[in-house]
Amino acid sequence: MERFFLQVYGCQMNVAEGESIRKILSSRGYSETTDMKNADAIILHTCCVRETAEEKIYGKIGEIKGLKRENPELIVGVTGCMAQKEGENLFKRAKHIDFALGPGEIGKIGRVIDDVKEHRKKFLGQDLKDYDAVPVATGKASIFVPIMTGCNNFCSYCIVPYTRGRERSREFDDVLADIQSAVQGGAKEVTLLGQNVNSYGKDLKSKDFSDLLSAADKVEGLCRLRFMTSHPKDLSDKLIDTMAASEHIAPHLHLPMQHASNRILKAMNRNYTKERYFSLIEKIRGKMPNISVTTDLIVGFPGETEEDFEELLKFLDIVKWDAAYTFIYSKRSGTPAAEMDEQVSEEVKRKRLSKLMDKENEISLASNRKFLGKVVSVLVEGESKEEKVYQGRTGENKLTLFERTDENPGDIVNVKITEAKTWHLKGERIR
Ligand code: SAH
Ligand code: SF4
Ligand code: F3S
Repeated sequence: MERFFLQVYGCQMNVAEGESIRKILSSRGYSETTDMKNADAIILHTCCVRETAEEKIYGKIGEIKGLKRENPELIVGVTGCMAQKEGENLFKRAKHIDFALGPGEIGKIGRVIDDVKEHRKKFLGQDLKDYDAVPVATGKASIFVPIMTGCNNFCSYCIVPYTRGRERSREFDDVLADIQSAVQGGAKEVTLLGQNVNSYGKDLKSKDFSDLLSAADKVEGLCRLRFMTSHPKDLSDKLIDTMAASEHIAPHLHLPMQHASNRILKAMNRNYTKERYFSLIEKIRGKMPNISVTTDLIVGFPGETEEDFEELLKFLDIVKWDAAYTFIYSKRSGTPAAEMDEQVSEEVKRKRLSKLMDKENEISLASNRKFLGKVVSVLVEGESKEEKVYQGRTGENKLTLFERTDENPGDIVNVKITEAKTWHLKGERIR
């Protein structure tokens, strides 16, 4: 039996597509190996949202070169966003790559591998027109279901609209069927995915994202429903009301703000102001007082002054996000921000990042401390880094660790919180 090795980089959408690749290859008789040296085909499902991701992947591609020399039959494929962005350049930089498929073409991977094997000719697929309905994973407690792909927002720093093309929604009934089959296959939690889930349905013209959430909420047997990512500019009152009225939507919203200086937000082309973001959060918390809200933030965007940065730091204390994923601005060629003057020096970027993280860590810790003494419901993922200690997530998406007794991955258990850290909670199983 032939074996494939798959490594997935990047966002949840890539993780979901990685599962699709696994399904496609398994259905063609391949088995998976976690050892590259044993593989007949090596596939890297890639990300290029920041330069660091790309460098890491080029490093991995370099590692594979020796394996290909030893075994010329080995098939090497690069899929996903980097394949879209780099195209032919990949073959130029690394002659041992046999095929590259952008995010719109991964549904073809089985056929492409057969073709490469037979004709030993390189293949590049970069069509973004269709949204190939790729198979969704089954047999796990937590399943990602892509509902749309692409982005029309063109934030000035971001490569994603170029790697994934324009917004395309999947058919309403297809998404629901995937959720139903995930639940029938044992899923307790489903996360609906899209670069911009609030845009779901704009191209279908009959149903919108709130309609989809309401319908998903009613799927028999589903315990938890999540979604990401929401763009603040399109988060509607209807969506807030749908969340508040739902039975199974988890009390967590990832609502990336990116920055809190109106000047920078404008240059980023985010289409909202600090004031608007804040009033949105107040509205959400007004209707769902216990919801946890998280964000993504970028420091060192071109032209960011000390004042802009201070404004962001101050805003952290005002909005009090439960967690923030913080990034250093990375120049992506082809995006408008890459051409802007006043690029911030690496040193200043690093200093700002560490200041931002210190501040947010205090706030995240305070948010986690609110759980001390409380009993939370945890969907068990499995063993943590520590032996005999299991981990899982609360509805608020707080990572929770507890001593294992007889729990198994996929169980939903009650845990009484005894310790709060910056990035996780610890507690004891309660029966
Ligand atoms: N569609 C999602 C985000 C996709 S990318 C959204 O709009 O929220 C995930 C995160 O990567 C972004 O939220 C942003 O914070 C970060 N990011 C994107 N491009 C970046 C760049 N050029 N440099 C640094 N961070 C970036
Ligand atoms: Fe990138 Fe902005 Fe689109 Fe998100 S909304 S994927 S940050 S362009
Ligand atoms: Fe990366 Fe593409 Fe996702 S660039 S973050 S894998 S959409």
